[in-house]
Amino acid sequence: MSSTILVTGGTGFIGSHTTVALQQAGYRVLILDNLCNSSMAVLDSIAAITGTRPEFMLGDVCDAESLHTVFKRNDIVAVLHFAGLKAVGESTRIPLAYYDNNVHGSVQLLAAMQRAQVRCFVFSSSATVYGDPQKLPLTEDHPRSATNPYGHTKLVVEDIMANLHASEDGWRMARLRYFNPVGAHPSGLIGEAPQGTPNNLMPYVAQVATGHRPSLQVYGNDYNTPDGTGVRDYIHVMDLAAGHVAALRHCLDAKQALLTVNLGTGKGYSVLEMVRAFEAASGRPVPYDIVARRPGDIAACWADTELAHQTLGWRATKEIDEMCADAWRWETQRAQRK
Ligand code: WQD
Repeated sequence: MSSTILVTGGTGFIGSHTTVALQQAGYRVLILDNLCNSSMAVLDSIAAITGTRPEFMLGDVCDAESLHTVFKRNDIVAVLHFAGLKAVGESTRIPLAYYDNNVHGSVQLLAAMQRAQVRCFVFSSSATVYGDPQKLPLTEDHPRSATNPYGHTKLVVEDIMANLHASEDGWRMARLRYFNPVGAHPSGLIGEAPQGTPNNLMPYVAQVATGHRPSLQVYGNDYNTPDGTGVRDYIHVMDLAAGHVAALRHCLDAKQALLTVNLGTGKGYSVLEMVRAFEAASGRPVPYDIVARRPGDIAACWADTELAHQTLGWRATKEIDEMCADAWRWETQRAQRK
């Protein structure tokens, strides 16, 4: 058995791009995924990009038996945990599904790791744990809060990791707080594939540009920001993937670690700036209407990136024009394949 990185949710948006980055860095990957929001076809695309098809096991992180089998049959040295539900609005309608998948699933996974004596764990947290920012840029010591069940599941898992780390020697863990991941692999072979109406800005913008949807609704232009629309720290998913490889290396090299770092660019762009960048990248118009604010939204949010640079030697490198160009390539190639 050769040493393997277990990637839960590896066929999803961020998991698939990170699998590509891991394989290109020379790691052997085993994906565990229940395919609730993705498909097996992603494995072919990863193989086309990297020349290697990752190992795959259909299974759920809530299922202790599947997890036990995974750890028994493979020489797993570390786990990157992406599998989870991620729609804020949905989390207020079906909170128990969110606590079950995101919290119970993480507990089952950590318990299986403990049993197998695998103590290297990289977790997908979110900038949502900062709540409404008290000051910008957001540093990792900013107070945490949650205004919806999704955000609360991220807070709880961060705390579970800290408790576990304090209870037993040898855990090397990273809590990676993502800002707003966008873009796609430059090949156009993998990207974000939301089911139904996209909740997030950039997949929606992409579908307006293709003509699949008539116009974008901009949620408010009366925020205290330069043009009145919401400002976010958009990060290219390939930069985010590289951040995971750096965090994994850090954990594998450490004897003991509980790292908490922002993965963002440090720069904020407004909704209208992103719309214009997408129009430029695609050559297509993106008509929009200004509508009421979306409940729960904050005005502005961007990362302090110094800690990630100091501890991981990692920085995001890609600008919004590249994020939009790569998202557009994915969207148009995907439309042709359908
Ligand atoms: C970005 C900006 C909207 C859609 C959410 C979650 C967060 C994380 C990522 C993870 C805001 C505006 C959006 C639209 C719009 N979750 N907007 N019209 O809200 O920063 O973060 O997703 O997996 O936890 O809270 O991202 O892309 O939804 O919105 O005007 O149709 O675009 O108001 O200013 P957000 P987003």
